[in-house]
Amino acid sequence: MSHSPAPREDFPILSRTVRGGVPLVYLDSGATSQHPQRVLDAVREMDVVHDGAVKRGSHQLAEEATVAFEEARDRVAALVGVEPGEVVWTSGTTQSINLVAYVMSNVAAGRGASVGGGTHSERFRVGPGDVIVTTRAEHHANIIPWQELCLRTGAELRWLDLTEDGRIDPATLDVIDERTKLVAFTHVSNVSGSISPVAQIVAAAKRVGALTLLDACQSVPHMPVDFKELDVDFAVFSGHKMLGPTGVGVLDGRRELLDAMPPYQFGGSMIELVTMEATTYAAPPARFEAGTQPVAQAVGMGEAAAYLMDIGMEKIEAHEQMLTKRMLEGMRPLRGVRVLGPVECVERTGSVAFHVDGVHPHDVGQYLDSRGVAVRVGHHCAQPIHRHFGVYASSRVSVGPYNTAEEIDMFLEALAGVRNYFRLED
Ligand SMILES: Cc1ncc(COP(=O)(O)O)c(C=O)c1O
Repeated sequence: MSHSPAPREDFPILSRTVRGGVPLVYLDSGATSQHPQRVLDAVREMDVVHDGAVKRGSHQLAEEATVAFEEARDRVAALVGVEPGEVVWTSGTTQSINLVAYVMSNVAAGRGASVGGGTHSERFRVGPGDVIVTTRAEHHANIIPWQELCLRTGAELRWLDLTEDGRIDPATLDVIDERTKLVAFTHVSNVSGSISPVAQIVAAAKRVGALTLLDACQSVPHMPVDFKELDVDFAVFSGHKMLGPTGVGVLDGRRELLDAMPPYQFGGSMIELVTMEATTYAAPPARFEAGTQPVAQAVGMGEAAAYLMDIGMEKIEAHEQMLTKRMLEGMRPLRGVRVLGPVECVERTGSVAFHVDGVHPHDVGQYLDSRGVAVRVGHHCAQPIHRHFGVYASSRVSVGPYNTAEEIDMFLEALAGVRNYFRLED
């Protein structure tokens, strides 16, 4: 195997075989990524050595668990260029987006607007006449919470539309107007792989005083990302897509906005003072971390962040760009194979969805799987962008820092045989 910036031997699962003994070619990192031994060890060590309740005990185990939990927050913050106090642990991207949407619907219902105090809390208030903007390129996790918010508050949902090759079309930015309260958009599409024009979208939102929320779960694992430089108000991502565990993720928010945000879940560890009559709440991020947190998973996510930083995100980005270019060039001559997204390796990542004429995506996936090549099939929780491409579903290859050029070639060789296998070549 040729070089990959994340050494293959760091990932025990990559040496296994599948389907009766063929080597695994894992090209489904966009759905979930694999874990280096360092991450597996960090998670296990929390349970085996440091298992104690975070921020709740005076004994040594509780102290060690608390230190590890907060160190993980520091590491994740460092990966994306923010302050640790701006990092809220959640169960993942989906919960992070729902958290913001739910807070806004609570504020609209007259609950909690004054909890954080300050002038910023009014920015979360939406109602009839207000507008929430998203895009047609989103994962359902960045569409449905906003549909629900609009249903509950009477606000209107609008969306940025797409160019023919599936990029967010800056010509549609005029849906963002003075009535817009929030613009929620993806950094990288999990279908087309295209990188969004973040600066243009943020500028349009700022012109009208709207908040911005960036879904960065398909960018953080694959390129250098600095939320301060991108100048977004909120950003969200998941541990399991960046070599970390499932069940943990992050909501990053500007400190002054988190300060002004009322909590949305209530219980242990998020309070300042409780009497039988009333409660005052802790400062962020604790205000948004009610109940026992996924401590070992957070530590694993922190270890994954450190692993990525040790390799260097520039190195990972360059390698994945090389793989993507090789893949797109190799797919171009294949009859009946249509890439759903930009066909040149420009402003795009290695998430490549495609359609094979005459073969259902599930059949494509099964055939590739029989050759050891693991890809995603279906609508990838992004039906609107599939409709934009005129299909209901697709197959999707997505690379990670452990993939090699040989693996791309194995995929291409297998893909070249699909139409023949289904007797569609003449
Ligand atoms: C762009 C995008 N947003 C959101 C999600 C949801 O992430 P999670 O399931 O980790 O909450 C995904 C997962 O595939 C995604 O690709």
